[in-house]
Amino acid sequence: MKLCFATNNTHKLDEVSSLLGVKMGLLSLKDIGCTEELEESTGTISGNSRQKAEYVFKKYKVSCFADDSGLEVEALNGAPGVDSAIYAGPQRSHEDNINLLLKNLAGVINRKARFITIITLVTPGLVKQFKGTVEGEILHAKTGSAGFGYDPVFKPNGFSKTLAQMTMDEKNKISHRARAMTELINFLTSHPI
Ligand code: IMP
Repeated sequence: MKLCFATNNTHKLDEVSSLLGVKMGLLSLKDIGCTEELEESTGTISGNSRQKAEYVFKKYKVSCFADDSGLEVEALNGAPGVDSAIYAGPQRSHEDNINLLLKNLAGVINRKARFITIITLVTPGLVKQFKGTVEGEILHAKTGSAGFGYDPVFKPNGFSKTLAQMTMDEKNKISHRARAMTELINFLTSHPI
């Protein structure tokens, strides 16, 4: 079976390869000769995930899946959402993004937030999406130094620490991305392509 993970993030590729096991060898974008930046212009997490997977499927004629994630804050009507990576500007600075988030939530009592990942799988005759979420709250200050992005200010419900205070193993047990990946892997295991 040939299946490509449409991501340029080698960390994600390694993580998913090990979850899938050797019998489902994963191809990277490099493996299929794709060196271009994949466009994300639909304005939604679900749309961008599908846009990337369909683009690679159509252009490179290979079954593939793509993911897209973001942070949705209830009091900010779902922002930063699809713009999570560039919330504070095109420099894509995690620190700037967190500072802007804390500024926009200053004095706000409702701190409810969630991370969401949507994975889109495209194979001949099939387009299917898988979702993973983790619910939590935005703290008032950064705590912890592991992980990336908004991890230092996100405390998952049921835990007394932020994602940035967890080991990678701990985070991978509850993260939005791991949950969406588990859904995908369950599907692939029961529907070999
Ligand atoms: P991506 O689609 O996985 O690249 O995620 C887009 C953006 O959402 C990232 O640049 C981060 O700002 C944020 N994000 C996604 N997943 C996480 C996470 O696990 N922790 C913290 N921030 C995340």
